[in-house]
Amino acid sequence: MAEPKFAPSILSADFARLADAVIAVERAGADWVHVDVMDGHFVPNLTFGPKMVADLRKATRLPLDVHLMIERPEEWVDRYADAGATYLTIHVEASRDVPGTLAAIRGRGVRAGLTLNPETPVDLALPHLSSIDLALVMSVHPGFGGQKFIEGALDKVRAIRAALDARSLQVELEVDGGVKPDNAARIVAAGATVLVAGSAIFEDPNGPAAALRKFKSAIRR
Ligand code: DX5
Ligand code: ZN
Repeated sequence: MAEPKFAPSILSADFARLADAVIAVERAGADWVHVDVMDGHFVPNLTFGPKMVADLRKATRLPLDVHLMIERPEEWVDRYADAGATYLTIHVEASRDVPGTLAAIRGRGVRAGLTLNPETPVDLALPHLSSIDLALVMSVHPGFGGQKFIEGALDKVRAIRAALDARSLQVELEVDGGVKPDNAARIVAAGATVLVAGSAIFEDPNGPAAALRKFKSAIRR
């Protein structure tokens, strides 16, 4: 099985020590840093904004995979682009103008991502596949780390994988929520290329490097 990229979610790290968290996952061999931006409206939780992204940009060389769980993401594209986001992912449920927002992200030289909540049909993402660099399948209801993986997400991953391959589109296919060493192989087999993991990485008693080794050996098996 092809090895996926790993994007630890700093939502499960100590917010008072986020620079240390990104340095630790970079040393541990992570590929990207997943940055969960929440506004207290689109999801019932609040995290941080563009300044945190700008400050994290100075702390690591890894790509910053910024997941915007915010209403009206179109109003924030410039600020997250200025902050140094590598990928900027919006929710299809959150924007009044999905094509325009994706084009604005790419227009700023940032890779554009599109995601959908567990209850949102995959059909809402399919029309946008040629306008994005990343498709993100949510496998929990967004807002909090440490939730249980929703199995129905695998069908969405397979549907998006089939649509991408049918059109030979080079788009990263990422899965976020409840991803653990014991389900990682199934998620990759369904067609995912990037795995987000928060609690499995930052709450491993042996640290992020040991956690990443568990993921990699589970996928190689
Ligand atoms: C959920 C976030 C996830 C979260 C995943 O709203 O988008 O990125 O950090 O956490 P785990 O891996 O613990 O489910
Ligand atoms: Zn996320």
